[in-house]
Amino acid sequence: MDITSVFKLLQDDIHSVVFATINEFGRPETRVTDIMLCDENSIYFITARGKNFYEQLIDNKYVSLTGFKGNSTISSIAVSVRGNVKDIGAELLNEVFEKNPYMNTIYPTIESRAALTVFQIYKGTGEYFNLSKRPIERYTFSFGDAELTWNGYFINDKCIHCFQCLSVCPQSCININEKSAYIRQENCLHCGNCFDICPASAIERR
Ligand SMILES: Cc1cc2nc3c(=O)[nH]c(=O)nc-3n(C[C@H](O)[C@H](O)[C@H](O)COP(=O)(O)O)c2cc1C
Ligand code: SF4
Ligand code: SF4
Repeated sequence: MDITSVFKLLQDDIHSVVFATINEFGRPETRVTDIMLCDENSIYFITARGKNFYEQLIDNKYVSLTGFKGNSTISSIAVSVRGNVKDIGAELLNEVFEKNPYMNTIYPTIESRAALTVFQIYKGTGEYFNLSKRPIERYTFSFGDAELTWNGYFINDKCIHCFQCLSVCPQSCININEKSAYIRQENCLHCGNCFDICPASAIERR
């Protein structure tokens, strides 16, 4: 999995996602919004300047979003992104309408598009999470110049090779032999069972 494939999945297959912003009382608010365009470093969506959503985007300059596709939990793929956002005006609006012709039904005339503006998520981090694979698959990414931060569970050199963690791992994603011990990050659920059972404090939570 690479970032281009994840953004393509967001734009073409998932398309409508839930965006979260913080309102004027410091509380989270969510709404459905479409992913209109993507390139290798950015995600683009539109909104109208009259909406609360617009006010919150301008105030916070930061969003979180999650979208998923699948007919059941066990067949679903989700993508989450959080990042910095800016209003880039109407320059890409024609491209948005060309790529997403259904928008002509909602805003049928040029005049009716007067309040629309395009937002760019230009820097952020995210995660692809696929519950349809066995073991599960996840992929952490960053874009723009955001630093990639790893979170999850990692085995350090205090490991005494007792193998207790293997018995509690629901995804069998811990590899331990005499020479090395590591967690396959791309298959880990972050459940924490290994951390709780380890007798040697060899598993770190980051
Ligand atoms: C499937 C779907 C897609 C939507 N896409 C967008 C969108 O791309 N941009 C937008 O501003 N509103 C979109 N909406 C409408 C917003 O969800 C709706 O206006 C929202 O409730 C307004 O949010 P606010 O109350 O936070 O301003 C969409 C709604 C649905 C059901
Ligand atoms: S956090 Fe859970 S899934 Fe991940 S390695 Fe530990 S036990 Fe396995
Ligand atoms: S439980 Fe801890 S010490 Fe035992 S094998 Fe796993 S990581 Fe190593």
